[in-house]
Amino acid sequence: MAHQLPSLPYPTDALEPYISKQIMELHHTKHHQTYVNALNAAEASYAKASSPKERIALQAALKFNGGGHINHSLFWTNLAPSAKEGKGPGGELKDGPLKQAIEQSFGSLDNLKKEFNAATLGIQGSGWGWLGVNPSTKRVEISTTPNQDPLLTLTPLIGVDIWEHAFYLQYLNVKADYLNAIWNVINFEEAEKRFLEATK
Ligand SMILES: [Fe+2]
Repeated sequence: MAHQLPSLPYPTDALEPYISKQIMELHHTKHHQTYVNALNAAEASYAKASSPKERIALQAALKFNGGGHINHSLFWTNLAPSAKEGKGPGGELKDGPLKQAIEQSFGSLDNLKKEFNAATLGIQGSGWGWLGVNPSTKRVEISTTPNQDPLLTLTPLIGVDIWEHAFYLQYLNVKADYLNAIWNVINFEEAEKRFLEATK
């Protein structure tokens, strides 16, 4: 069964002014679609491969494009139209188990944002910033991954794409402005669902 590009759960202009319609269109229909196509091609080649050497040669393509597909599928659903713009729940962390867990680990949401943005800005080249649940301690933690590596050490709650294709058309080289803006469209309702699933 071939992988497919998932639909966005909102229109491409719904995250404006924080993420432009143009970025969303290109990011979803070009970049994510390319990971899906390449993952399908790599899996088809893997199925036909007749030797360990041929299968080993496909590992990098499977990891890169499989990670790209997993990460972007998660990314679209952990964004939502902004509450500040009166468009949706984006950016609003309501009282509840996730807020408690964030305050336990970071003291406050503002402090989480500060630490998350600093860690994500520290990525050399392209990658992802993450908030996830530690499966042993059940506490929320910040992590980063390079390239399209998916987050495997924690259960992901929020992932932020720090590839240039995610922000450059709008924020140019100023990654910090993109990272500050994106908190206005983070879907904490979705993050809380993932948190409850990971800690039940
Ligand atoms: Fe991306």
